[in-house]
Amino acid sequence: MAGREEEIRALEQADLECVWHPFTQMQIYRREKPVIIEKGKGSYLYDTEGNAYLDGISSLWTNVHGHGKAELDAALKAQTDLIAHSTLLGISSVPAIRFAQKLLGAVPPGLTKVFYSDSGSTAVEIALKMAFQYHRQAPKGKRTKKKFLSFVNAYHGDTIGSVSLGGIDLFHDMYRDLLFDTYKVASPYCYRCPYGREYPGCKLDCLLAVEKMLDEHHEEIAALVLEPLVQGAAGMLLQPEGFLRGVRELCSHYGVFMIADEVAVGFGRTGKLFACQHEGVSPDILCLAKGISGGYLPLAATVTSEEIFEGFLGEFVESKTFFHGHTYTGNPLACAVAIASLELFEKERIIENLQPKIAFLTDKLEIFRELKHVGDIRQRGMMVGIELVADKETRESLPVKTARVTR
Ligand SMILES: Cc1ncc(COP(=O)(O)O)c(C=O)c1O
Repeated sequence: MAGREEEIRALEQADLECVWHPFTQMQIYRREKPVIIEKGKGSYLYDTEGNAYLDGISSLWTNVHGHGKAELDAALKAQTDLIAHSTLLGISSVPAIRFAQKLLGAVPPGLTKVFYSDSGSTAVEIALKMAFQYHRQAPKGKRTKKKFLSFVNAYHGDTIGSVSLGGIDLFHDMYRDLLFDTYKVASPYCYRCPYGREYPGCKLDCLLAVEKMLDEHHEEIAALVLEPLVQGAAGMLLQPEGFLRGVRELCSHYGVFMIADEVAVGFGRTGKLFACQHEGVSPDILCLAKGISGGYLPLAATVTSEEIFEGFLGEFVESKTFFHGHTYTGNPLACAVAIASLELFEKERIIENLQPKIAFLTDKLEIFRELKHVGDIRQRGMMVGIELVADKETRESLPVKTARVTR
């Protein structure tokens, strides 16, 4: 037992000495004993001290079926008996083919090709480069589309292209000088409507603003990028009914590609497999990651329309190849688990069984409304944000200095 104690203390020491944690102020982190997760089962995480934690953020919105899910474990083990990794650059692999085929059967109609990578940021980065290059390769006279339109409060990841689309000052402002310019339009935020309107009485001024922007700049804009239904990292900001569909119609009308970043909202979080399905929307490009492998391994997919794919076809000398690919793109272990995860959605009728859980959550959230500092409760499916305020009447925000941020 003493050996175990020593081992844990040594791990804590090594964590503080060797590991730089993401999105973490390390000066504060180092003031406290680190929580070191050792195992997981179902909805719970267990640390080295044996404490159990309800994994309420699903290990950063990745875990779908619970930790240690037998079917996913089995798929992973079976694939390790065959091969752990081989490249997808110029050759293929069995799990990458099988998962692409299965995924295309599940995504909104009109999407026909899967381009793999390893994280949400790269899925978005790839979508940007595809939309950009597609227009660069368009017949002469149509090559003016080099810009992107994204939303205030957006979060699309941490690589430079994704950060350029982002609109959360706390994360993004530091890098302004490194980023490329994008057009930005205010995002729907009904609790603090940027247009001073009240939903549902308003006429979706947020959508009118998108229309105005596209009307003025569509000749330059290659694609509009949005998180459909919920801006997650911004604080679970919900889009009013009809907004997503309206954006789709505007993009089609103005000849601008619609890139739906479902990295956070995909794989059941909103109560349907994909958020776009709530409003019958098919984007031109769909970005997926996080829940794609059930929360097991880093995997991402940028799923595109045939039109976009065909824009890249040509002889090698025509230089239309999409020169992008990460070393672990389409990793066979990750794809094998992703197949098993999608199978579980069918076998366990997860979306159907989710509906009473969503209703249960809605019911239980009501008790928080009474609390002095709860200004707004926002829920879409299993995604919930509770906005804390200093004053409920005025909706004045809590000053940042009152936040007790440890990690
Ligand atoms: C909507 C959205 N897009 C992209 C990302 C980036 O994903 P990753 O952290 O896997 O790079 C995130 C991460 O939270 C996200 O919420």
